[in-house]
Amino acid sequence: GITSPAPPSAQLVGAPPPALRAHASHKGSYGDVAVIGGAPGMAGAALLAASAALHSGAGRVFVGLLDGGSLGLHLQQPELMVRAPGALKLHALAVVCGCGGGEAVRSLLPRVLGEAARLVLDADALNAIATDTALQALLRYRAAQGLPTVLTPHPLEAARLLGCSTQQIQADRLGAAQQLADRFVCVVVLKGSGTVVAAPHQTPAINLTGNAQLATAGTGDVLAGMLGAGLAAGQFAMRAACEAVYRHGLAADRWPAGQPLTASALAKS
Ligand code: APR
Ligand code: MG
Repeated sequence: GITSPAPPSAQLVGAPPPALRAHASHKGSYGDVAVIGGAPGMAGAALLAASAALHSGAGRVFVGLLDGGSLGLHLQQPELMVRAPGALKLHALAVVCGCGGGEAVRSLLPRVLGEAARLVLDADALNAIATDTALQALLRYRAAQGLPTVLTPHPLEAARLLGCSTQQIQADRLGAAQQLADRFVCVVVLKGSGTVVAAPHQTPAINLTGNAQLATAGTGDVLAGMLGAGLAAGQFAMRAACEAVYRHGLAADRWPAGQPLTASALAKS
């Protein structure tokens, strides 16, 4: 519940209700997630997001690796269905993460922005959008069509998107998240201590869970996957974002003291 007074311009994210599964439900009830990522040397990011989506209850999880191979991902997590990105069906929910800075993500994004009914964009997908006004126009066009998008920048990625410094982002995190949400007409999750969730025409939220155990490689990819599962299950984007950051932080707060957290263990928690 809410434990401290809220700053006037923000609401705090409280505990979500427990997720219950209807007795007669089936995997189609929980939605498909398509994770796109895995630039050379970054397959782990796609695996982490996909694994987190599965452990957050997604009905089916597909992975499209940018290098077109499978890299034995299914040996790590046999539930995953690995495809070439071109063969992925994106009609449901797509999560783009761990794409590297190369051309591959840039050439995939127009199709993803056009086809995915719901979309989570992280890391290098955000960096590609920051420098490409055509992709920015496609992002706004999605919103005009009523297709929700969630952006999950850390402060440096947010700075690139707004064309300012990381210090400026950190000096006014609520304002920065709101500016991003308004400019790109998206839900924005500005990560870091006190993650901010903002959306156009809504009061931004500050998440109260989480701690510096999360300051380790790959925890952002896990968040993207958790968020993807919520969206795939049909949650509204703002709600899915608030619940995912809350549960991600809560898992870290419940981590045994003195035991370093790893992203792969977090994904399975
Ligand atoms: N307190 C609370 N939460 C924290 C803290 C903290 N002190 N530090 C980190 N976190 C949380 C963030 O809120 C976020 O959810 O951990 C997650 C870290 O996500 P990222 O910053 O995206 O880190 P990571 O997953 O390692 O991704 C880094 O991806 O963004 C690209 O180019 C970047 O290669 C890099 C990689
Ligand atoms: Mg990241």
